[in-house]
Amino acid sequence: MMNIYIFEDSQTLYEEAARQVISLVRQKPDAVLGLATGISPLGLYRVLIDDHQKNRTSYQHVTTYNLDEYLGLAPDHPQSYRHYMHEHLFTHIDINSDHTHIPHGDTDNPPRECRRYNELLTGTTLDLQVLGIGSNGHIGFNEPGTPFDLETHVIALDEKTRQDNAVFFAQIDDVPTHAITMGIANIMRARTIVLVAIGAKKAQAVKQMIQGAVDNSCPASVLQTHRDVHLYLDIEAAKHLS
Ligand code: F6R
Repeated sequence: MMNIYIFEDSQTLYEEAARQVISLVRQKPDAVLGLATGISPLGLYRVLIDDHQKNRTSYQHVTTYNLDEYLGLAPDHPQSYRHYMHEHLFTHIDINSDHTHIPHGDTDNPPRECRRYNELLTGTTLDLQVLGIGSNGHIGFNEPGTPFDLETHVIALDEKTRQDNAVFFAQIDDVPTHAITMGIANIMRARTIVLVAIGAKKAQAVKQMIQGAVDNSCPASVLQTHRDVHLYLDIEAAKHLS
């Protein structure tokens, strides 16, 4: 069963989603978190930072693994996900940077980098995985059609995904064509999943995720089979649900 929470106000949504992360970290100071980038988790990260500053929730013993990274971007590239995490979370909390893991986008051997990252993932258990959802139903960069049993792999980004993400780049041609992503098999091993979806652009994918068939035309539909999934939706993202 999916736990679905619908909010009129996005700030309350971020606070509630963040509360799940914060209470985990307070109960289990050495929690292992799976993290996402993009617009969806930004508000959640702001609440974590605010709480860290006000209530001193500590991330000193927390370990993190990010979902994905663009292939071809160096860690200090302004659009790399390493740079994003640094800017939007890691520099504002007391996390040890040696405990933060993101695939290396500037690798000269992507299959080897996938194996390295996957070994890290198989040697641990994610206590909680934060997810967004693509307007095409992807989770991580597992685009429609990706088999559910894949682990960390290289993916060719959908044209839809490149268009959606072009807002972060000067022009569409600058958006990388490939990425390294955790596979659905990695994501599904997380004990708890917290997914944030905001805005009408996500409404169709959200409907398919919750009420559609479980198949890889909407990768997020696999979450129907996860035992502890929490979906934080705003009214616009939830508008097609019956
Ligand atoms: C990000 C990721 C993607 C995004 C999704 C939604 O690390 O893996 O699945 O969560 O593309 O992106 P936004 O939140 O920018 O709409």
